[in-house]
Amino acid sequence: MDVNDRPTVLVIGATSSIGKFLVRELAAQPRSQNGRVLAAVRSEQKAESFRKQGIETVHLDLNQTETIASALQGVDRVFLVTGYTVDMLPQSKAVIDAAKKMGVQHIVHAGAWAPADTDLPHFGWHQYVESYIERSGIGYTHLQPNMFMQNLLGGNSLWESLGGSSKENGAIHFFLEDARIGWIAAEDIASVAAAVLREPAKHDGKAYVLSAEARSVPEIAEVLTEVLGKPFHSVPNSPDEFLAAVLKGGMEPTYAHCAHETLKRFGRGAIPGQADVYNNIEALTGKKAMLWRDFAVKHRGEFLY
Ligand SMILES: NC(=O)c1ccc[n+]([C@@H]2O[C@H](COP(=O)([O-])OP(=O)(O)OC[C@H]3O[C@@H](n4cnc5c(N)ncnc54)[C@H](OP(=O)(O)O)[C@@H]3O)[C@@H](O)[C@H]2O)c1
Repeated sequence: MDVNDRPTVLVIGATSSIGKFLVRELAAQPRSQNGRVLAAVRSEQKAESFRKQGIETVHLDLNQTETIASALQGVDRVFLVTGYTVDMLPQSKAVIDAAKKMGVQHIVHAGAWAPADTDLPHFGWHQYVESYIERSGIGYTHLQPNMFMQNLLGGNSLWESLGGSSKENGAIHFFLEDARIGWIAAEDIASVAAAVLREPAKHDGKAYVLSAEARSVPEIAEVLTEVLGKPFHSVPNSPDEFLAAVLKGGMEPTYAHCAHETLKRFGRGAIPGQADVYNNIEALTGKKAMLWRDFAVKHRGEFLY
C-alpha cells in the first residue's frame, strides 16, 4: 500500500488490446479511488507514450525473471495478460511465483473461454495458469473472454497483419465461415478488470465468462452496413490462409497451429457453447455491454472506407 493506504496496481500487458483500455480507465479515476496505477512495459518507446498521458510505467520483460521481481516491488494487485505464444506458460508462472514472494494480494488473469474439457492446447494452457494461480494462495479473479470484437479491426498483434475491415470496399476478411460465435469488446473486458481491481474482495475466487453477443461475420457485416450507412460484406478466408499468413508474419508456431485448429472448429460451429452469451457486464461494471451496433459507432473511423 502507498503512504495513503491506497493499493498499487500493476498492469502487465499494458499495451495489449485489453491493457490499454484498462490503464486508461484506472488512471482516469482519482488515486483515492483506484490507487496508484503502474503500466508494465518492455521498451522505452512504449514507456514514453504512457508517460505522455501522465501514466507511470515500470520496466518488465516477461522473458527476464529479474525484471518481473523488480516491477512487483510494493505492488498489491496485478492484472496479467500474455501474448500469442506458448511462452505464456513460463511467463505466467514467473509472474505468479514472483507475486507470491512479493506479497501481491490479488491477481486478475485474462485467459480465454473454452469448454472445461477442451482438447485445444492453448485453451488448456490458460486453464493451467488459472490452476497455478489458485494453488499460489494469492487472491484471484479469472476473466474468460470469447472472441474479441477488436479482431475485426486488426487491433492486436495476432490480427493486425490479417485483414480486418478493408478500407477500399467494405470487405470484412475473417476466417470463420458463417458460424456464429460469442463476441466481447476489449473495452468491456478492461472495465470488468477495473471493477475487480477496485474491489478485489468482492470478486475473489470467481471466474467470469465474457461473451456479450453472438453473431456470424456476415451478420456483423449487415450491422456495419446499417449503422455506418455504407455497404460491408464478409469475405471468409480459410483457416489455412490464416496459418500461412501468421507463420510468415513470425508468429510463434505452436500457438499459431492451436489458433488454426480453433478457427477450423469455430468455423464449423463445432465447439459446444461457442455462441453462448452471458448477461453479466452491466452487473459487473455498471455499464451496458457493448454490442456490435455500439462497437460499430464507437469505431466508425476505423471501419469506414
Ligand atoms: N483475440 C481473441 O479473440 C482472444 C480471445 C480470448 C482470449 N484471448 C487471449 O488474449 C491474450 C492476448 O491478448 P491481446 O490480443 O490483447 O494480445 P496482444 O495485443 O498481443 O498483447 C500482448 C501483450 O503482452 C505483452 N508482451 C508480450 N511479450 C512480452 C514480454 N516478453 N514482456 C513483456 N510484455 C510482453 C505485449 O507487450 P508489447 O506491446 O511490448 O508487445 C502486449 O502488451 C492471449 O492470452 C489470448 O489467448 C484472445
